[in-house]
Parts: sequence; C-alpha cells; structure tokens
Amino acid sequence: MAHLDAYNRPISYLRISVTDRCNLRCVYCMPPEGIPWRPHEEILRYEEIETVVRAAAELGISKVRLTGGEPLVRLGIVDLVRMLSRIPGIDDLAMTTNGVLLSRYALALAEAGLKRVNISLDTLRPERFQQITRLGRLDDVLTGIEAARQAGLEPIKINTVVVRDMNDDEVVDLARKTTEAGWNVRFIELMPVGNGVLAEGERQNVVVTAKEIRQKIEAALGKLEPAKVSVGNGPSRYYRLVGAKGTIGFITPISEHFCYHCNRLRLTADGQLRPCLLSDQEIDLRTPLRQGASVAEIRDLLLRGIESKPLQHHLAENMMPGSRVMSEIGG
Ligand code: 5AD
Ligand code: SF4
Repeated sequence: MAHLDAYNRPISYLRISVTDRCNLRCVYCMPPEGIPWRPHEEILRYEEIETVVRAAAELGISKVRLTGGEPLVRLGIVDLVRMLSRIPGIDDLAMTTNGVLLSRYALALAEAGLKRVNISLDTLRPERFQQITRLGRLDDVLTGIEAARQAGLEPIKINTVVVRDMNDDEVVDLARKTTEAGWNVRFIELMPVGNGVLAEGERQNVVVTAKEIRQKIEAALGKLEPAKVSVGNGPSRYYRLVGAKGTIGFITPISEHFCYHCNRLRLTADGQLRPCLLSDQEIDLRTPLRQGASVAEIRDLLLRGIESKPLQHHLAENMMPGSRVMSEIGG
C-alpha cells in the first residue's frame, strides 16, 4: 500500500532523472549552447539508483519513470532498466524520451522490462522541428515512435508542449493523429521553469491554456468526449474525438493545478529527492548513499520526503522556483 502524505495523498510514483544531458536543445528548455552539465561524479550510479528504488518499493511506490535530460543518452541505460524491472513491487516501469534514439533502443528496452514510453514531440513539420529542437531531425522521432510500437512499448503517449507562436497552429494536426495513427496526444501548458531562454516578461504571454487548445480542436474536428484510459493516474485529463482510437489529454499546470491529486516524488540526476517539481526543497540522498546507507536508511529519507510534500505550487501567481532547470529535474 502506498504511503499517505500530510494531505492524505497516496504517494505511489517516483520519477527519476538519470542524466541532465540531452541530445537536443529545445528552445523553451535550454539555451543554444546547452547548460553546463553536472560532472560525472555528481551523477548517481546505477547501483545507487537501484537502492533508492528498492527503498521506494518498500514504501509502496509501484510506478517508476525514467526521464532526463534525455535518458537514452546515458550509457548502459538498458542495464538500468533491467535492474529496476526486477525489483519486487515495481509493476509499472516507464520512460519519457525525446525519441531521437528510440529506434535503436526500443526492442532492447522492452526486453529488459520497460513497459511503455512517453515521447516528446512538439511539431509534425520537419523544418519547424529543427528550429524548436535546434539539433534534431523529425524523421528520427517518427521512426522511433514506430519502433516503440513494434516493440510493444504501449500505450505510447505523445507529449506536446504548446507555446504561442511556436506551435499553437498545429494542435489540430496533432489532434488528428489520434484518429489517423491512433496516437495518444497530451498537450502540456508551458511552465515558466527557469531556463534563461524566454525573457521574464514573455513567460506569461506564451502560455496557451488547455481551454484554448480544446476550443481550437473542437472547432475543427468536432466535440471531444471524456475518455477512460487504462494506464496513467497522473495529472492528465483525457478526451476522445468521435471514432478515434487514440486519446487527447491536457496537462494544465498553469490554468488548473492538479496538486491535490499529486502522487509523486522526484529524484534528480545528482541524487536529490524533490518532493515537488516546483519547490526548491530537496533532500540529499547521494551523500548517505555514498556513505553506504542501507535500503532501510534511504527508505526513512524517502518517508521524510513524502511527509514534507507541500500542498500546492503557486505558478499561477507567477512564483517559481529558481535553482534548477527542467532537464535536471526531469519534468
Ligand atoms: N513546461 C512544460 N513542459 C516542459 N517540458 C520541458 N520543459 C517544459 C516546460 N517548461 C516537457 C518536455 C517533455 C516533458 C518531460 O517535459 O517537452 O515532454
Ligand atoms: Fe532535451 Fe527534453 Fe529539454 Fe528538449 S525539452 S532539450 S528534449 S530535455
């Protein structure tokens, strides 16, 4: 059974950033030159991550997601998946990836015990993809999506961050993919998490709310019906176009916070436990891990994290945490 936090929320989900590095430089995430990567010795080793996940499983956490940065750029990532998938109590092991390297790894990941992938994709236009990601090729991601499907890493979810004047004119095209290709597409409101790319004043203006996206889709493609989904107990609300195989989801950190249902903890690539994405409060796990802490000792630290989870964030009031960028925390 999952542990309850101070506000009676069952904490069942751990998101782990396995690296702060990325092979893309999405404009809303990183400056063109990237951000200074953390030195290798600060990054948790796979054995250390394994200890944390064993401790988490003892507390009733059953769902683990690997993120980055880009998790597939970390060497030996398939080995980590194998290590974690064998831990008793972990019954949902997933990954969030930009998909660029997925065609190379999909099969091996599935064989190692990964259940499914979320793939970040903000545009269907090759030239725009290159502008947004600065380093990527759309074709690689599309091939990756197909490889994931063939490997059975399903249901595949596509995560689309919608930014005004960047890709808000494509929400209808992306929604159409739920009918044409059976994709499950989730539209995410841009969070003003520190990155130095969007100037302070711009941040509010570039947010496109779920309501606006939904209106655009319904005007072009017809009504969205509420949909039930088999996996995913996260912050997304799901809908479906009439006759579509895939679903359309909205993740609304800005227009409608979902903190009251938050079920997660986060582990940064350098071993800091973050009870909330949007609060700078952290508990250091790396130091105790390197001093040889046992699973039981790490479990007690995780419990402290659960018990200190804040009630909610204050993004809508334009308050944001300062110390880290998204690629370090893992989204
Ligand atoms: N706001 C919302 N989503 C973001 N992501 C990266 N930066 C932001 C942001 N500032 C997304 C990525 C990926 C997921 C892990 O988080 O595009 O889909
Ligand atoms: Fe990399 Fe994801 Fe950031 Fe894009 S949004 S640069 S894919 S970490």
